[in-house]
Amino acid sequence: MQILLAGGAGFVGSHIADKLIEKGHEVLVVDNLEKGSIENIQHNIGKSGFKFIKSDIRDIFELEEKPDVIVNLIASKIPRYSSGFNTLTLNVEVARHLLDLTKKYNSRHVLISTSDVYGKSTDFPLREDGDLVLGPSTSRRWAYAVSKIYNEHLALSYMDEFNVYVTILRYFGIYGPRQHLNWWGGPVGVFIDAIYNDREVEIHGSGKQKRSFIYIDDVVEATLKVIESTSLNGEIINIGTEEEISILELAKKIALLMDKQPAFKFVPYESFTKNYEDPMRRVGDITKAKKMLGFEPKINLEEGLKKTIKWYRALKKE
Ligand SMILES: NC(=O)c1ccc[n+]([C@@H]2O[C@H](COP(=O)([O-])OP(=O)(O)OC[C@H]3O[C@@H](n4cnc5c(N)ncnc54)[C@H](O)[C@@H]3O)[C@@H](O)[C@H]2O)c1
Repeated sequence: MQILLAGGAGFVGSHIADKLIEKGHEVLVVDNLEKGSIENIQHNIGKSGFKFIKSDIRDIFELEEKPDVIVNLIASKIPRYSSGFNTLTLNVEVARHLLDLTKKYNSRHVLISTSDVYGKSTDFPLREDGDLVLGPSTSRRWAYAVSKIYNEHLALSYMDEFNVYVTILRYFGIYGPRQHLNWWGGPVGVFIDAIYNDREVEIHGSGKQKRSFIYIDDVVEATLKVIESTSLNGEIINIGTEEEISILELAKKIALLMDKQPAFKFVPYESFTKNYEDPMRRVGDITKAKKMLGFEPKINLEEGLKKTIKWYRALKKE
């Protein structure tokens, strides 16, 4: 198959590209490298079946070949330190543009969404057909969830109105090699980097908030199944694990695995964007992924963290 990965030089997209190439598919990565990097895809450049265009996706209106599948991996994330402007405008514009391309080429569309759309819902484990419960618009952090919920509705409206085939994946927190080492990439990379460099480990809020993390290889496996399937039109599927851990425990676990004893610094939510809010728990129901994709996460948190730390150490020794 011919697959367009929009945002394919980023953390998740570059791993999906690797697997697709390995399986003999043809991959076109379009990425403006604003957050992604050439290092993430360098090893594929020159391989048959792999093509990279450095561009803002919004400037691409014609493709040389009709893609069988278009995957939207582009996103500006939770505005923790900035306003919501970029998150709202980029995510919405890119989604519309990619849905138009999908319609034009009669391709299938995979929209990558996020567990953040569940917002403050306490209906655990979070199910795809459950309510999405957001805080007030005066809390900037909800801009990400709002943009992704809009994208989900938009994708489903393209299915209803224009017969476009769409599947929506709600990823839960992902970690692993190539992840960003700042808050863009979530706590695992930030903690490893701080602990390795003997810096204080910043814990946002009390650290008692719990999350469920999923290792990159498991995410790639689930996403490949969706890309290759033709029977998931209109489906929304959680991609995560059932293993929960508090943020403070996560930091302590990483420190233990790295054989270090860091100091922790608690950073109050008031220091982030206006009226910052953080859900105390986030764990998804993955029954649907198990049933529809035959998906089963294979790598538990400890194993995944060991692999990520190994990658990080190798990166630092380069
Ligand atoms: N990483 C996670 O833990 C996580 C969790 C839930 C959902 N997601 C979703 O998964 C997707 C991928 O996340 P990621 O962590 O790989 O992010 P990432 O930032 O590493 O990847 C996104 C890529 O999009 C590129 N990009 C941004 N604007 C662009 C534009 N206008 N034109 C072309 N390229 C552009 C960036 O350069 C980057 O390479 C996102 O949609 C994100 O919302 C990720």
